[in-house]
Amino acid sequence: MRFLPALPSPDARLLRGLPDPFPGGRIFLGGKGAGAMAVRKTNILDLARMKDDGQKIVMITAYDALFARIFDDVGVDVILVGDSLGQVVLGYSDTLNVTMEDMVRHTGAAARGRKRAFLVADMPFLSYQPSIADAIRNAGRLLQAGAEAVKLEGGRNAEETIRAIASADIPVMGHIGLTPQSVHRMGGYRVQGKTDPQRERLLDDAAAVQEAGAFSVVLEGIPAALAGEITRALSIPTIGIGAGVACDGQVLVMQDLLGLFDEFRPKFVKRFGELRKPVVEAVGAYAAAVRDGSFPGKEHSF
Ligand code: KIV
Repeated sequence: MRFLPALPSPDARLLRGLPDPFPGGRIFLGGKGAGAMAVRKTNILDLARMKDDGQKIVMITAYDALFARIFDDVGVDVILVGDSLGQVVLGYSDTLNVTMEDMVRHTGAAARGRKRAFLVADMPFLSYQPSIADAIRNAGRLLQAGAEAVKLEGGRNAEETIRAIASADIPVMGHIGLTPQSVHRMGGYRVQGKTDPQRERLLDDAAAVQEAGAFSVVLEGIPAALAGEITRALSIPTIGIGAGVACDGQVLVMQDLLGLFDEFRPKFVKRFGELRKPVVEAVGAYAAAVRDGSFPGKEHSF
């Protein structure tokens, strides 16, 4: 099974005398009590520096404390509490029914699980579109829940909203191209930027997001060559999903890359594991043992 490379954490690297991959620019978080460990947190300056140094940014989604802790231990740079929550956790067919309450609850859980990775939370549908005041208030709620930045969908049309949230000192990650909250406007989940007018529009969207003050932008479902052009044109890091290898980083939904989600398999998903099978086998073995009376045994009983 191939999995994300087990990078030593920055603290482990320092202990082993290896160079710190992110020198400076981090805050230190102390825990409580005498045994508290100082944890070097990843921040937006680290991500900007990674683009400048040509170091790829690794981002993955997580929706709870358990997986956030595992991914943090592996050494991913960014954890996204995505509104993909709606599909991969809550059982909806799209992201449109995810609420602020859902996002606050799951952002808090992921924040409690991770120590070092930078945590981004998605702004759900209708949490930022109605008014600038709603957008700032809801972005602030996600920071209060434990995120360090919010992500919202839109380019030139979201320019004012991004500017207002960023002006409230809340870091914003943009998201352009195939934007799942616009599924009905796009006529389905379709690759964007294939025609000349769409290409021009995406280049303009990318420029608008950066000019409005976003610190990074997700490029979803766009041709690799266009994503490369956008990545070279922007000074902020681009994170690709279905956007080719030239982006400054990549993101995947955890259930997709772990091989847990079987309902559909987009072309851009690589399954780095096949975890559905061992889960089915383990639960099947448990069910059989309960039914034939071999579990619990003496060793599991008091
Ligand atoms: O909601 C999500 O998980 C996302 C990523 C796929 C980028 O927005």
